[in-house]
Amino acid sequence: MAKQSSSSYSFSSILHKRWLLRLFIFLSLIAAFAFIIRAAFDSSTQCSQLQLDQRFHSVAPLAPALNPLSFIKSKLVLLVSHELSLSGGPLLLMELAFLLRGAGAEVCWITNQKPAGADQVTYALENKMLDRGVQVVSAKSQEAVKVALKADMVVLNTAVAGKWLDAVLKENVPRVLPKVLWWIHEMRGHYFSMDYVKHLPSVAGAMIDSHVTAEYWKNRTQERLRIKMPKTYVVHLGNSNELMEVAEDRVAKRILREHVREALGVRNEDILFAHINSVSRGKGQDLFLRAFDESLRLIQEQKLQVPSIHAVIVGSDMTVQTKFETELRNFVLSKKIQHRVHFVNKTLTVAPYLAAVDVLVQNSQGRGECFGRISIEAMAFQLPVLGTAAGGTTEIVVNGSTGLLHPAGKEGVTPLAKNIVKLATHVERRLTMGKKGYERVKEMFLERHMSHRIAAVLKEQSMGYVVLLSRVIRSASGFLSTKVTVWRSIRGAIGSRLIALASDWVEEIKLFTFHVWLIGLGVTSQLTVLVLQ
Ligand SMILES: *[C@@H]1O[C@H](CO)[C@@H](O)[C@H](O)[C@H]1NC(C)=O
Ligand SMILES: *[C@@H]1O[C@H](CO)[C@@H](O)[C@H](O)[C@H]1NC(C)=O
Ligand SMILES: *[C@@H]1O[C@H](CO)[C@@H](O)[C@H](O)[C@H]1NC(C)=O
Repeated sequence: MAKQSSSSYSFSSILHKRWLLRLFIFLSLIAAFAFIIRAAFDSSTQCSQLQLDQRFHSVAPLAPALNPLSFIKSKLVLLVSHELSLSGGPLLLMELAFLLRGAGAEVCWITNQKPAGADQVTYALENKMLDRGVQVVSAKSQEAVKVALKADMVVLNTAVAGKWLDAVLKENVPRVLPKVLWWIHEMRGHYFSMDYVKHLPSVAGAMIDSHVTAEYWKNRTQERLRIKMPKTYVVHLGNSNELMEVAEDRVAKRILREHVREALGVRNEDILFAHINSVSRGKGQDLFLRAFDESLRLIQEQKLQVPSIHAVIVGSDMTVQTKFETELRNFVLSKKIQHRVHFVNKTLTVAPYLAAVDVLVQNSQGRGECFGRISIEAMAFQLPVLGTAAGGTTEIVVNGSTGLLHPAGKEGVTPLAKNIVKLATHVERRLTMGKKGYERVKEMFLERHMSHRIAAVLKEQSMGYVVLLSRVIRSASGFLSTKVTVWRSIRGAIGSRLIALASDWVEEIKLFTFHVWLIGLGVTSQLTVLVLQ
């Protein structure tokens, strides 16, 4: 009997416990739901605020921790570069590779398009990576597929790198896409081609160098290709530590300045304006030279007392843009300003020129630069920037403070000429602008800032389930807030009608308003209950 009673007791106690368990589960579900809803409301308000002023997920710098990328330790990251050369895109990806290595990640590198034959530059860069522990994998090998499948994250660099996906991964593409972070630095029309970007909507995220460019990509993909951008992060670039070291070394700067000026035949007291970019019409060297010529005339006409001004065009490559280069040189000859204009071949080491000049001119045309890294490099050297009011430049240069902006196109020639004269005549203003630019760089355009921004993106990407959860929350909150709005407008309409009725039949109708605060949920919707008597 005792046995039975104990068993029946235990049976009822089990039932009891089950009941308690259910209650407990029920309560925790309610608590969890309340928590989610509250988070949703919080995040939805934050989100709309953020979208109001930035529209894209700007990545706030994290607190200055030891290494912002430390969470990536021992993760496998595959970097896919469109090419390997001394141009901006690949070099930036290499910087990322070294940052990741520095944080203890396992990093593999793939170059999609290699020039035929042994290329010295490619060879040197690959060796540099191998030295720093980056594994270099052949783009079209079976190993590439294996690494892509195994990797915790795949970074595709530039829109053009999109071609690698189908060509190499083939049927494995869908398995890799959710881990792909696409880093885009282009904004010219021909990149908006399905050949390159058809997988863009299905990747985990896109990282773009400026807000303007992100906006432009959103617009073009929607209008032209009818595809939707994935979650997009704006990541402004930063100056490398090496560049900052030179920029902040007075002695090195003085020596470089003397050396370069001597080579160009420019005296120390002359004012030197530099245009540093690969020579092409899109970069606007032709319009800069016209503005420079006009400024010389302005100075002469107004009999201004200024030191002689010079221009240096760094980025010549006679073998590539022969026609355009010839046009530039002919212009200089026809205006007889060859003693004032200097051409320098394309070079990777811009520091000596930045140390030697007084003002940087960023004259990129059309939609301007995606970011325009040379501007922040010049600002590091305390140079004011005369830039076109287009593209990333508008996010770097503060008009009137760290430089002066002029419109792109022919209508920008005279404003630029006037700005050249302004900076040539007002020494104090020029120096102040340079200092302000330097302060701005120290505040937001250092390698440290960039790696914090990238770290925040990678962190979010590497926690896919969090992203998924936040999406669920966001759509739930969207659903709820429409419900609330609809209810509010219905209430508004009915309420005012009833109040009108009420003024007639006050005795018959009484309105009771219950402010139901859904405690714990934080939902501040007022439910108005009408009681008709
Ligand atoms: C894209 O830009 C054009 C003008 O450049 C504008 O008319 C259009 O509404 C924009 N579309 C979107 C989706 O923003
Ligand atoms: C600049 O490049 C051209 C070929 O494009 C070459 O002939 C010339 O010697 C180079 N100048 C210098 C100073 O290296
Ligand atoms: C830049 O500021 C100047 C005044 O300092 C103003 O005249 C000019 O229109 C501004 N340009 C742009 C593009 O905002």
